[in-house]
Order: sequence, then structure tokens, then C-alpha cells
Amino acid sequence: MNYFISPSILSANFEHLAEDLIQCKRGGADWIHIDVMDGRFVPNITYGPLIVEACRRAVDLPLDVHLMIIEPEKHIEAFAKAGADAITVHVETCPNLHRTLQTIHELKLKAGVTINPGTPIESLTEVISMIDMVLIMSVNPGFGGQNFIPQSLDKITRLKKMMEKFSSPAIIQVDGGVSHENINKLYKAGARNFVAGSAIFNHPGGIGAGIQALRRALSAV
Ligand code: DX5
Ligand code: ZN
Repeated sequence: MNYFISPSILSANFEHLAEDLIQCKRGGADWIHIDVMDGRFVPNITYGPLIVEACRRAVDLPLDVHLMIIEPEKHIEAFAKAGADAITVHVETCPNLHRTLQTIHELKLKAGVTINPGTPIESLTEVISMIDMVLIMSVNPGFGGQNFIPQSLDKITRLKKMMEKFSSPAIIQVDGGVSHENINKLYKAGARNFVAGSAIFNHPGGIGAGIQALRRALSAV
């Protein structure tokens, strides 16, 4: 099956981040999802390019940087230099979205666009055919461990139809409250890249067991 498991390091143990990343790799993670927050666009502050550099040194997996910051265009180059492979920006923070996505592509990175639970998929219409990934937020961004917003399933189904209509090459990523309980339905709705923080890093059996639990749930699709 063609899908990607992307552990979100927001829920990792930062006392031994490198070790957690190696366990993600050993456990079968496909990408590493790095949640950048500025305390302005979202109520939490996390980290910047320094952590991307550290992840780049620690693990040879694609680094998927999710910018939950205002004025992301000012920081794209720094994240690219730090080692990002993909950068995803929020529609809600990009008045010049088309130009910002061009910039990400000019830096030879994959370009993603993401929308919050309250933002309609129609806001993606003008760029849907030029992007590599669409991230559907299934929680209100800012923290790990939140409850999955059930309406996200229908939103993904509608997005998939819209992408088919515009022959978009993008894949659908989902982020927030993803677990072994809902990943099956998310796959059937059209999602192919699954961000998970607490379901992986807080799994009682450890990181590898958390990833395998998601893969096992998907194998039942
Ligand atoms: C939330 C972040 C998510 C979060 C996911 O703002 O964008 O990536 O880390 O964490 P869980 O999987 O615990 O909901
Ligand atoms: Zn995220």
C-alpha cells in the first residue's frame, strides 16, 4: 500500500531527541514531521531551523516542516538551508500564497499547503494544481494530544474530489488526533500521509510499537 507514516516530533522526548528519531527510523517511519510554532499564529511556541539541523544530523529521513507561523515567507530559506525536504505553509498566513509556493519550489523543496479546521477547501482552488501536498488539520493547531475533529473525514473526501477535478498531483496529509482508531477511515477518505505525535511517542509499547499499530490498522483496509 502506498502511504506514509510521519511521526510529529512535537510529542518526542527532547531530552533524547536523536534517540527518538533513530527509533522512528527503526520502527518504520517514512518522514519526520517538524511542527514550527511562533506563539502568534498558534498559542504555542516550539522551535526553529536549529531543530531541523539537529534532525538532519540525527536521521536520514525526509524532514517535513509544518510552519504554523505568521509571515512564513521570511523564514523559508532558513528552513531550506537547515535541511528541510518539504515545507508546508498555512493558507491563513499567506496573502501571497502563490509566490510563497513558487519560492519553496525554487529552493527545490516539496511545497505543501495546509488549512485549519475552520478554513474551507475552496481556499486551495487557485494553487491546488501546483502543490505537492495538501495537509488537512484535524485539530486546531498548537498542541499534540488533542481530540480528532470528526468533520475532518468529510473534508478529506470533498478535497479528494476537488483534487481529481483539477487533476492535482498532490497527496493528502492529515495531522492531529490520528490514531489506530481512525487511520483506516482516513485512508479510505483519501489521505495517504499520516502525521501522528501522541499515538506514536506516547504508545505504551514504545515508538516502534506505536508506528506498527498504525500500520496494522491500515493493513486491515
Ligand atoms: C498540532 C500539530 C500536530 C500534532 C499532532 O498543532 O500540527 O502535528 O503534533 O499531534 P497528535 O498526533 O498528538 O495529535
Ligand atoms: Zn503538524
